[in-house]
Amino acid sequence: SLPDRVKMVEVGPRDGLQNEKQPISVQTRVKLIDLLSNSGLRVIEAGSFVSPKWVPQMAASEEVLAGIRREPGVTYSALTPNMVGYERAREANADEVAVFGAASESFTRKNINCSIEESLERFRPLAEQARADGIPVRGYVSCVLGCPYEGDIKAEKVAEVSKALLDMGCYEISLGDTIGVGTPEKARWMIETVARSVPLEKLAVHFHDTYGQALANIYATLQAGVTVVDSAVAGLGGCPYARGASGNVASEDVLYMLDGLGIHTGVDLGRLAKAGNFISAELGRESNSKVARAIGGE
Ligand code: HMG
Ligand code: MG
Repeated sequence: SLPDRVKMVEVGPRDGLQNEKQPISVQTRVKLIDLLSNSGLRVIEAGSFVSPKWVPQMAASEEVLAGIRREPGVTYSALTPNMVGYERAREANADEVAVFGAASESFTRKNINCSIEESLERFRPLAEQARADGIPVRGYVSCVLGCPYEGDIKAEKVAEVSKALLDMGCYEISLGDTIGVGTPEKARWMIETVARSVPLEKLAVHFHDTYGQALANIYATLQAGVTVVDSAVAGLGGCPYARGASGNVASEDVLYMLDGLGIHTGVDLGRLAKAGNFISAELGRESNSKVARAIGGE
């Protein structure tokens, strides 16, 4: 069966833009976020407090958070890999932070320059400080259906890392198919395995659409009981440490499917598409959202 409502988590301003080759101004990032918050979305990942040497596009995330118009009821979140990032995020008044680990040793090394175990040790004091400060922490697990360096990843390993993030205080665990290689039955199986260690209502899915499987995978995981879905407007994005990883599933496409299934999200498709069309025009290319292309508009 399918859920009555789904929480859409918009990651376009972060996951979408972090890998862009061309420069993007703070003003453009701010305008994108303001258009998104005007669409009814309730959670927007606004930036990333990582090393600017590693991910130059996410530099000045503090200026982005300072520049946006804060819509009441909207959570503006940011990635934080370590205490330095956490302090920056808190200073910038991020409403929520996210730590990001992976179910693959090689990917963890390439992405955050440490082992899985070391990453968890790094996140623990961050999660403790965030709890003391009253800032919710989300946990990401990357490579849940495959790794660009190691290939197949065991669902048990995904469950183990997810459980560790839950135990340190993450309120939600987002399971990332970083390189978009998953297919629906594998995605369902992975969710069922992780759900033996982490309550289903705390799981989110984060699909990249590299192989065109994302919507089918989302549908399969909704049927398995998932109610939180990450996506990026206009299908922006990719991960700088996963070669060949294309954008996230497009938010407009996810919303069109959810609307069609009669699942409530509170998000308005026309307004969402407007945000996607704005950023596509800024980047000088056609939107990666099929729905946005079909409905057109400004
Ligand atoms: P490191 O080099 O091992 O760290 O990088 P370090 O502690 O040795 O520090 C090196 C330098 O970075 C120092 O500066 C630090 O001060 C500075 P220096 O002395 O050389 O001038 N530094 C920082 N500066 C600003 N903010 C910080 C920070 N931390 C250290 N927070 C580190 C380790 C984690 C910092 C680095 O590897 C990094 O920033 N990685 C980020 C990688 C990233 O952002 N990847 C993309 C996001 S993950 C993703 O896309 C997947 C996801 O979407 C889910 C999915 O699809 O699967 C979430
Ligand atoms: Mg991602």
